[in-house]
Amino acid sequence: IDLKVENGVASAISAEDNRDLAALSTSKKDSTVSITVVGASGDLAKKKIFPALFALYYEDCLPEHFTIFGYARSKMTDAELRNTVSRTLTCRIDKRENCSEKMDQFLRRCFYHSGQYDSEENFAELDKKLKEHEAGRLSNRLFYLSIPPNIFIDVVKCASKSASSANGWTRVIVEKPFGRDSESSAALTRGLKEYLVEDQIFRIDHYLGKELVENLSVLRFSNLVFEPLWSRQYIRNVQLIFSEDFGTEGRGGYFDNYGIIRDIMQNHLLQILALFAMETPVSLDAEDIRNEKVKVLRSMRPLQLENVVIGQYKSHTKGGTIYPAYLDDKTVPKDSLTPTFAAAALFIDNARWDGVPFLMKAGKALHTRRAEIRVQFRHVPGNLYKRSFGTDLDRATNELVIRVQPDEAIYLKINNKIPGLGMRLDRSNLNLHYAARYSKEIPDAYERLLLDAIEGERRLFIRSDELDAAWALFTPLLKELEEKKIAPELYPYGSRGPVGAHYLASKYGVRWG
Ligand code: NDP
Ligand code: BG6
Repeated sequence: IDLKVENGVASAISAEDNRDLAALSTSKKDSTVSITVVGASGDLAKKKIFPALFALYYEDCLPEHFTIFGYARSKMTDAELRNTVSRTLTCRIDKRENCSEKMDQFLRRCFYHSGQYDSEENFAELDKKLKEHEAGRLSNRLFYLSIPPNIFIDVVKCASKSASSANGWTRVIVEKPFGRDSESSAALTRGLKEYLVEDQIFRIDHYLGKELVENLSVLRFSNLVFEPLWSRQYIRNVQLIFSEDFGTEGRGGYFDNYGIIRDIMQNHLLQILALFAMETPVSLDAEDIRNEKVKVLRSMRPLQLENVVIGQYKSHTKGGTIYPAYLDDKTVPKDSLTPTFAAAALFIDNARWDGVPFLMKAGKALHTRRAEIRVQFRHVPGNLYKRSFGTDLDRATNELVIRVQPDEAIYLKINNKIPGLGMRLDRSNLNLHYAARYSKEIPDAYERLLLDAIEGERRLFIRSDELDAAWALFTPLLKELEEKKIAPELYPYGSRGPVGAHYLASKYGVRWG
């Protein structure tokens, strides 16, 4: 009996399945995947996309026949692209191994075509080159739009008219930002849908490709101990925290048009919230999961100004080093009110989460780099040991921390007796520390997402109705902040952020973790 493993469950393969699999593997053998990185001369392409593609190649995850094309306006030869790309590839998977041979093999499959983003003719030239490499095989084509959003539609139009696959699939990965508000996002979706159907659009939120974010559902739905506690009955508050210990360095021009709420909260943190709070999906199918996420977003109240604090970092001198203010960035207008920090309290008005504050905090140029989900549980009713905690009963509550990065870990804070003859308690951690438990390096989020896009797995990509629901929550607040020209509270570079964030949390009886 042959076994197949689907979603971790092994089952016997029927004769019919066997025939399907044989046909699939023949068709895979005879097919090619051409990946075009549009905007290949840019930062993201070099920093993330090419290294992720190399890692997939190294791990033998790419199909046998594949070609990678860089596309941008900059003039470059294939050799120059390879030279640039080679500088960002690393042998991160096995540091002891010399992977230079693999790198050479990979680079030989990378090519470059220079063209304008709005030229059907230039895309037709690309098409011709792709066809040469596809050599008459079934062609599947993936376009990664690693370019500023104002040229997404031009590219999609030209690529779909002049360079889409004639006999296989054509998919387009779109990078955020997906608009600035509900209207511009809807206009972008309408524009994309003039040339593509929803199934061809893969909207990336790279936080969904992070190992611990993907693990959230496993933690909840495959461990009996967590799911029964996952509600207002036992959870006091949930905190979603993103912080970076550096400023907008080099990206001030982009950032000033968006700000931290659009850059991090409306997408990365809100996506985590939706996965955290959703009901059990009918299956692990992409549509079932995304249906549940949309329901959470639609059950939420749009953000209220009184539940939001914004900040902007100012210059700070420490140990003789001057750390610049946001406004010192030459690409940022001197009177910019763009927030580099925001804290917000959000609420889900459904039976499971009624009244539970979900507190988000996101900031640049703070004292530490981390992304975490912190779940604070309620007090133990009639706690026998409450005296051991004095008046600070909050210290006695359990807390589950999911540290998304760095140094991935899941730990549960529990109360424990200090060994000895007396009866003294302290707080200890039941700790799943990834580096200690798993020797294999964790793949970069972009590796997982690129592989999923190649395989047509949509679970970790944002559907258009999710996007609409996400913008509906944030658009009124963003408009109000901008119309009223609300000044952000200044905080020193490298600090914990504005004190207003603490007042906001304490309004809901919460202490930031
Ligand atoms: P870049 O600003 O580096 O742009 C990528 C390429 O697009 C450039 O090399 C340039 O290529 C072309 N380009 C830039 N500006 C324009 C313009 N005004 N008109 C036409 N072409 C232009 O972007 P990134 O690589 O940093 O990011 C790509 C996309 O990914 C963006 O949408 C960004 O918001 C998003 N993103 C980026 C992240 C990052 O860490 N960098 C993180 C998450 C999302 P050429 O001149 O050769 O044509
Ligand atoms: C991007 C934001 O989406 O995520 C950046 O535009 C931010 O501002 C980045 O720095 C953080 O990603 P990561 O994976 O480094 O935490």
